[in-house]
Amino acid sequence: SIYGNLKGIPKMEERLKEVLKIRKIIISPGNLSENSMVLKDMGKITNRLLKESLLAKEVIGITGGSTMAAVADEVTSDNKIRDVIVIPARGGLGREVETQSNSIAAKLGQKLGGSYRLLYVPDGLEEKALELMLKNEEVKESMELIDNMNTLVFGIGRADTMAKRRNLSEEKIDALIKAGAVAEALGHYFDIKGNEVWEFKTIGLSLGKFKALNNLIGVAGGEEKAESIIAVSTLNQNMTLITDESAAKKILDIV
Ligand code: F6P
Repeated sequence: SIYGNLKGIPKMEERLKEVLKIRKIIISPGNLSENSMVLKDMGKITNRLLKESLLAKEVIGITGGSTMAAVADEVTSDNKIRDVIVIPARGGLGREVETQSNSIAAKLGQKLGGSYRLLYVPDGLEEKALELMLKNEEVKESMELIDNMNTLVFGIGRADTMAKRRNLSEEKIDALIKAGAVAEALGHYFDIKGNEVWEFKTIGLSLGKFKALNNLIGVAGGEEKAESIIAVSTLNQNMTLITDESAAKKILDIV
């Protein structure tokens, strides 16, 4: 059925937790690629989890992508005022405004009854230009908040898909694949073991900081992301994964 094997879900969550060795797994029944309700459901689960785990004066980071856009859509405003600030975890990928982390951060901040800050960084800036941007007062302020980030809600993608989305050259994409890249998160490309293969340079949360965060919520589904999820799960055990049944099944097939 489109809702999958409901009874088997808790068992799957348990097995997946053993395999991925992260804090918590929540599986949404069904297949995201076949049923758009599954993505919404993952967003609703994220909404609940976020509200349960929010601390006072918290800085929450969020990334872009279609999954995070769905999360921001599914977060419900409950008229509570929360002393939280939402900020994009990294600058970049400015092409599709609706799925860009800035609009997602703004929406999430408003819906949580908190505030938000933006981080505008054009794509593909050279290192020198990035350094100059860091001198800008507004960027500085955002970077300070990123340093104080406690919770990160983030998307996980396939390396090849994300390389294409970033319009990287054919040669670069081939090189990434040859180097074993299967996953992308926060602009970093990883092989299945979680080794960094390449970084799309921009401003924002560093990989070191990402690995040290104590509350991460990764949201990613669809069986084509199975390897990507495995790779990113190796980076920080303080991660809660919200995924769908099809990805969960595929991961258990692979490992
Ligand atoms: O570009 C932001 C981002 O969160 C990437 O880091 C991630 O790989 C991707 O979006 C996921 O996109 P989607 O949810 O559309 O698959």
